[in-house]
Amino acid sequence: MQTSRAVDDLPGAIRVGVARKRQEAEDICSFELVGFSGSALPVFTPGAHIDVRIPGDGDLVRQYSLSNSAEERHRYVIAVLKEPQSRGGSTGMHERVMEGDVLQISSPRNHFELTPQAEQGSSILIAGGIGITPLLSMADHLARRKADFEFHYCARSAERMAFRSRLQQSAYADRINLYVDQGEGASRIDIARVLQVPSPTRHLYVCGPEGFLNAVTIGARQAGWQDGNVHFEHFSHRVEASESDAAFDVKLARSGRTIRVAANQTVVEALAKNGVELQVSCEQGVCGTCLTRVLEGIPDHKDVYMTPDEQARNDQFTPCCSRSRTPTLVLDL
Ligand code: FES
Repeated sequence: MQTSRAVDDLPGAIRVGVARKRQEAEDICSFELVGFSGSALPVFTPGAHIDVRIPGDGDLVRQYSLSNSAEERHRYVIAVLKEPQSRGGSTGMHERVMEGDVLQISSPRNHFELTPQAEQGSSILIAGGIGITPLLSMADHLARRKADFEFHYCARSAERMAFRSRLQQSAYADRINLYVDQGEGASRIDIARVLQVPSPTRHLYVCGPEGFLNAVTIGARQAGWQDGNVHFEHFSHRVEASESDAAFDVKLARSGRTIRVAANQTVVEALAKNGVELQVSCEQGVCGTCLTRVLEGIPDHKDVYMTPDEQARNDQFTPCCSRSRTPTLVLDL
């Protein structure tokens, strides 16, 4: 299913030009987006992302992290990995977006912020593959503030390692450790060694594919890191099937309507079929766009957007992928 928002429904919708498209590595392109007539773009903080409406594919919207310096006001730089199982987003960006095109984007939002204490304490940044993008902006910020940090970047091969020369020419090149799984000079990150000294003033920031993210966050827990010092961002998430993948009802509190959600349907799909459109973007429980208040019933949370504590409150859920543990969920709709 594709998303179904009007352009102006994107938070703080903006039109930008594609000033530059560049092949950064195998299957990874970067896009430099600029305002019209040199106009300044909205301010962002390191770790922020924007929604991008993918041209020529209905209303498909995808999120991409900003990789450039947050000091810059004249451009946003995103990078897109062409996914073999692309549902249209990454393929559309790679194959249909060219220099000179106009794109519709949202204002930046940030769910992956550096802590306010990052400049006083120390930070470890660990990127896997395309997860490098938000961490580049963080590294730039920490280096400018002369903060204490180290940067670890893992990729499958040197050919798939984006921004390698930018990193090696950066002012913080001496704090970068590169790892590739295959080819000449292959070496793997030793997570236990990198994370061996947790401290209340030390924060870990990790971004990458789900398996990589899990390996690093589990390693942090085993090394004694506190959850509050471990910050991560999912790029994608495989929604797992579970026992609750049976049919259930959602009751819309404001209209009193009850809508059946079939076993093979998401709540978003069931509502759309009955004329109730919800805003969605990732449709994988990653972005939080579809977050909806739950008034009664217990959701079966399948997202990675909320923290375990937020999920345990059961007062909101992500209808793009989450389901119900009770026969009926009453929603604030
Ligand atoms: Fe992204 Fe539901 S649309 S979490």
